[in-house]
Amino acid sequence: MKIGIIGTGAIGGTVAKKLVNAGHRVKVYSADGSKLKTRARELGASPSTLNDVVRDVEVVILSVPTTVIPSFPKDLFAGIAKDVIVVDTSNYYPFRDGDIPELQDGKVEGEWVAEQIGRPVTKAFNNLLAHTLEHGGNPQGAEGRIAMAISGDDEKAKATISGLINEVGFDVVDAGSLSDSWRHQPGTPAYCTELNTTELKDALDAGEKEKAAHIRDSAIAQLIERVTQPSHEEIVVFNRALFPTNPKTA
Ligand SMILES: NC(=O)c1ccc[n+]([C@@H]2O[C@H](COP(=O)([O-])OP(=O)(O)OC[C@H]3O[C@@H](n4cnc5c(N)ncnc54)[C@H](OP(=O)(O)O)[C@@H]3O)[C@@H](O)[C@H]2O)c1
Repeated sequence: MKIGIIGTGAIGGTVAKKLVNAGHRVKVYSADGSKLKTRARELGASPSTLNDVVRDVEVVILSVPTTVIPSFPKDLFAGIAKDVIVVDTSNYYPFRDGDIPELQDGKVEGEWVAEQIGRPVTKAFNNLLAHTLEHGGNPQGAEGRIAMAISGDDEKAKATISGLINEVGFDVVDAGSLSDSWRHQPGTPAYCTELNTTELKDALDAGEKEKAAHIRDSAIAQLIERVTQPSHEEIVVFNRALFPTNPKTA
């Protein structure tokens, strides 16, 4: 497929590299034009402009901090066919993204993103850490294969993106419509806990929307307070332990 990715950081860069390795034609755009050519070469992708990265592609992946999304030109997707799928990987963290009143009032992040860009989105690649995405993939059918959540209102788009997720090494669990995508936002049992399909389904069901923002902020505060930087494995164990009912809580 032809795929455009905005953001070449921990998630956008990893997704780009994996999709290139899976045989897709990927072009990328990121904020710092001085690094873009080198970064694109590292990823096996082509460097692009913001205007061109969304054109002549079948899928666009937005992988930037939430706070950046409203700064995209309002006509970025003007003239782009309706069947071009837009995927949002973002997670809102007030400590990083600042105050976004609608999100602080509980608006579902994916719905907010769709409004900002004036176009429906499929929410995916947001509930696994970049390290998991890079190193935790396995071939289809592997025992205990880690699953990724997906949400959205377009079943065909979800099927296409689920196929890409499978190609890069993960099972997929459909969490429902975009309005259900809070179930894999930060502060939920499904968020960055490295679960298999059965476990992820249970975790998505167990989420509590009204508690998620508090859990998210308290988790970040605890991680920031740590004297030494936690390892990836320690972060996953920590995330699981936020929810005593998590099947993988020690
Ligand atoms: N890290 C994770 O484990 C993880 C997991 C799941 C989801 N997410 C979410 O995915 C999103 C991306 O996360 P990340 O960890 O990949 O972030 P990151 O490593 O900080 O990378 C952010 C990327 O966004 C680009 N960017 C910033 N401002 C931009 C602009 N105005 N226009 C175009 N590109 C811009 C940056 O470009 P330059 O490189 O040129 O500065 C960089 O490539 C976030 O919303 C995050 O919450 C992260």
